[in-house]
Amino acid sequence: MAQFSHIEYPIKIPYQLRVYFTKGAFELDNPLFRDLACTRESGNRRKALFYVDEAVSQANPELTGQIGSYFDQYADDLRLMDIEILAGGESLKNDPDRLERIYTDIEDHKICRHSYIVAIGGGALLDTVGFAAATAHRGIRHFRFPTTTLGQADAGVGVKNGVNFHQKKNFVGAFAPPFAVINDYKFLSTLPEVHLRNGYIEAIKVALIRDAKFFEWIEENVDALNEFDGETMEELIHRCAEHHVAHIATSGDPFEMGSVRPLDFGHWAAHKLEQLSEFDLSHGEAVAIGIAIDTLYSEEMGYLDSKSANRILTLLKKLHFELFSDHLERRNGSRFPYVLEGLEEFREHLGGLLTITLLKRIGSRFEVHEMDTDVVLKSMNRLKSL
Ligand SMILES: NC(=O)c1ccc[n+]([C@@H]2O[C@H](COP(=O)([O-])OP(=O)(O)OC[C@H]3O[C@@H](n4cnc5c(N)ncnc54)[C@H](O)[C@@H]3O)[C@@H](O)[C@H]2O)c1
Ligand SMILES: [Zn+2]
Repeated sequence: MAQFSHIEYPIKIPYQLRVYFTKGAFELDNPLFRDLACTRESGNRRKALFYVDEAVSQANPELTGQIGSYFDQYADDLRLMDIEILAGGESLKNDPDRLERIYTDIEDHKICRHSYIVAIGGGALLDTVGFAAATAHRGIRHFRFPTTTLGQADAGVGVKNGVNFHQKKNFVGAFAPPFAVINDYKFLSTLPEVHLRNGYIEAIKVALIRDAKFFEWIEENVDALNEFDGETMEELIHRCAEHHVAHIATSGDPFEMGSVRPLDFGHWAAHKLEQLSEFDLSHGEAVAIGIAIDTLYSEEMGYLDSKSANRILTLLKKLHFELFSDHLERRNGSRFPYVLEGLEEFREHLGGLLTITLLKRIGSRFEVHEMDTDVVLKSMNRLKSL
């Protein structure tokens, strides 16, 4: 009879997921960054290497000088190694050469596990720089400064990072909680409208799966959101970020070992659409369509009542999201469009069992393990006719 012996110990690693909200993080009288960077067994003169999204740097020409002055003020505690400017957006996640450049910088500046890498930019830049930080030396502390609504509300406040491989979204990545996230609302003042709007969709997503009252609040504030009113956007970001962080910290599965991923509601189609459009569709635009498909699917299957489905689509339309894209119809000879491959890719990414989040009410979700292809097609056709 086969025999074995074994050794087993639990390893418990406490993480603290910290998201701060401020305005003007590198103004000289704002001590937040310094206080965070210099507490905790900090030792002397921690090194920091910065990466700034090119669009952010162009829109805020004073930023690099300001960071320089900030570090001069705290020269006893902090040492600025360099501020690298990286062209942001999805092309960054698609380009392995740029990842290699970051590793080279880390090597050249002798950035160690007690240094900081600071990423300032959109979700794509945070994902890329965060991945480099998570993997160089098996993990360097990193600060995230999301500069888009989507980043501040969602992409930047979680524990995931990664890059695309062969155009497949986030194929290579790691779970690595950032040292801290700093949501500096001031950055939003230079963000183009299309990207301001993109953050709204992740807020709608999280409201749909967790919080009916938040959904109502978004409905009530549609006009202010369409006018990009500062205070309203800040509240939306704060509430959305709170939900994300709470979900990650309390769901019992922060590193997604299981197959249930409610925060990815609407994302199986979205990720495929981004790829099919060669990233012409932004993440937010694609998620809006993905949410619309899964909402109608929930209705068609009898899980969600028609009135609620209507409310959801109406809100998306009022916020000027397109609910259909020609990419949904692209097919390769067969009667099935390419976008359906998103289901299989989603399953592969999760590992094992396909698990799709659907709605049973606004604010309440559940999971299914298969999708009826004909009903998905019908849902997409209904969107077209809308
Ligand atoms: N890690 C996660 O958990 C997670 C979650 C959701 C989304 N994401 C990823 O995030 C990415 C989308 O992020 P995004 O919506 O922030 O888009 P993005 O990073 O592509 O940024 C959008 C555009 O705005 C520019 N920009 C950024 N901030 C600016 C500012 N303040 N002023 C002017 N221009 C600015 C960028 O250069 C870019 O061209 C996708 O790759 C998506 O997969 C990651
Ligand atoms: Zn998303």
